[in-house]
Amino acid sequence: MIKRITSYHPELYSIERLSHVSPWSEGVLQSCFTENYQIYGWFSAAGILQGFCVIQQVCDEFTLMNITVAPAYQGQGIGGQLLRYVQALAAQHRAKLWLEVRASNAAALHLYEKQGFSEVGRRPSYYPRGDEREDAVIMSWQAV
Ligand SMILES: CC(C)(COP(=O)(O)OP(=O)(O)OC[C@H]1O[C@@H](n2cnc3c(N)ncnc32)[C@H](O)[C@@H]1OP(=O)(O)O)[C@@H](O)C(=O)NCCC(=O)NCCS
Repeated sequence: MIKRITSYHPELYSIERLSHVSPWSEGVLQSCFTENYQIYGWFSAAGILQGFCVIQQVCDEFTLMNITVAPAYQGQGIGGQLLRYVQALAAQHRAKLWLEVRASNAAALHLYEKQGFSEVGRRPSYYPRGDEREDAVIMSWQAV
């Protein structure tokens, strides 16, 4: 079940830290509990937080800043449900939805393409990856 999370919970950072190549710091996650940001969590029937997403809304544009599912629960459709929820929110506001993803992130790219996002540009060598760098793929989606 998806619920809005309105105050910081350390479980967010536990999931973040385990899931990303370059995780956000706990401070960055805490700073998302301010105006313009919304955080939604996916909770199991037992109330366990299994994944979350962070969106930023500025006027009529939404940006998906983060979407993360704890490794133990990946591949069960939770990321898809969270993304569909954000797409529905953006559609309600007639807003365009933007995101950026590492070019090597096959799982995320697959999910975004499957749910109708299109590549609209790239930031070359944007993300550090070990001693090298990789492109950010910029994608957008809008309800028709
Ligand atoms: C990206 C992420 C949120 C997807 O969440 P999820 O709950 O595993 O996704 P779902 O179970 O809804 O699967 C969505 C699709 O991705 C596919 N997928 C999952 N893992 C995959 C992988 N490693 N490679 C390719 N496709 C993959 C699934 O098969 C599914 O597609 P299908 O229905 O056609 O089979 C999750 O992998 C994650 O948290 N990754 C680490 C954090 C991250 O990279 N976030 C995105 C930053 S932009």
